[in-house]
Amino acid sequence: MTDEVILAIESSCDETSVAILKNNQLLSNIIASQVESHKRFGGVVPEVASRHHVEVITLCIEDALREAGVTPKDLSAVAVTYGPGLVGALLVGLAAAKAFAWANHLPLLAINHMAGHLMAAREVKPLTYPLLALLASGGHTELVYVKKEGDYHIVGETRDDAVGEAYDKVGRVMGLSYPAGKEIDELAHQGVDRFDFPRAMIKEDHLDFSFSGLKSAFINTYHNAEQRGEALSVPDLCASFQAAVLDVLIAKTKKALERYPVKTLVVAGGVAANKGLRERLAAEISDVDVILPPLRLCGDNAGMIAYAAHVALKEGQTADLSLNAKPSLAFEGLGD
Ligand code: KG4
Ligand code: ZN
Repeated sequence: MTDEVILAIESSCDETSVAILKNNQLLSNIIASQVESHKRFGGVVPEVASRHHVEVITLCIEDALREAGVTPKDLSAVAVTYGPGLVGALLVGLAAAKAFAWANHLPLLAINHMAGHLMAAREVKPLTYPLLALLASGGHTELVYVKKEGDYHIVGETRDDAVGEAYDKVGRVMGLSYPAGKEIDELAHQGVDRFDFPRAMIKEDHLDFSFSGLKSAFINTYHNAEQRGEALSVPDLCASFQAAVLDVLIAKTKKALERYPVKTLVVAGGVAANKGLRERLAAEISDVDVILPPLRLCGDNAGMIAYAAHVALKEGQTADLSLNAKPSLAFEGLGD
């Protein structure tokens, strides 16, 4: 049997990443983060992101090949994230992937970023279907029913802000640096939930989320105290914010599990790195196998894109060189 070796490229936001997956095993996963360049703006500046991707993408490809001990002639396919994400950032990865595929006579695989987040769980063990996934990142919060490999159905999603986005916005209000999720998570463990922030739609029967009301409640509480000249405890604010987020995530995930009785729950995306979330999943979700990607595969990386690409390659879902970026790419059906 010939080896299956995939080179995957991810550049949808502020990480340039290239990975090599051989026979479904990650040999390298180079991640060049631009976060330091965006910190002073308090968020990702699209033009700055594209420029950084252009600067490092070739080096990342070379590093990924070198670290994996693989040459272009060993490869079976080139995979690339084509959406959702920032259009300029996506285009850099696409141009690199197409040029590399064309020059080396390799098939091109177009991968949905969210399919990547979900398939990062494959690093832990082979997945069994059907399964449910809670995907929470800076841009998305969704519950996904996966009937069979590669067949995705969104059964609940945020109606406004994504969880990670809410973390980053309240972090900014408190003067924390971007992205604030990890720091809020740490501070939350030192504080007490005493602000009684809203748990939007927690009792409603559907599986959708809303986090903008929580964000506004947080900002009002903070600014009102500031106007009174009162300094609120940052750890308590973080603990209260995180408790409100986690109550809703856990409640909706439990509801989804009742409606879709599966044996496996995948929790992935940047917010899946949250320690509080991991603790509560372990304590409150039983009867299903909860699979969380290791921390290094929770944030954006090309390793996860490579795992999703393995499925696309098996299904023969190749793209041609006219492939374009789809910034608002939906996540439905077979992922395209
Ligand atoms: O998946 P990701 O790397 O990028 C997107 O596709 O958006 O997610 C980044 C998001 C950021 O909003 C960041 O604040 C959040 O994930 N995040 C966390 C934690 N670590 C990262 N949020 C809560 N707790 C964490 N420990
Ligand atoms: Zn992401």
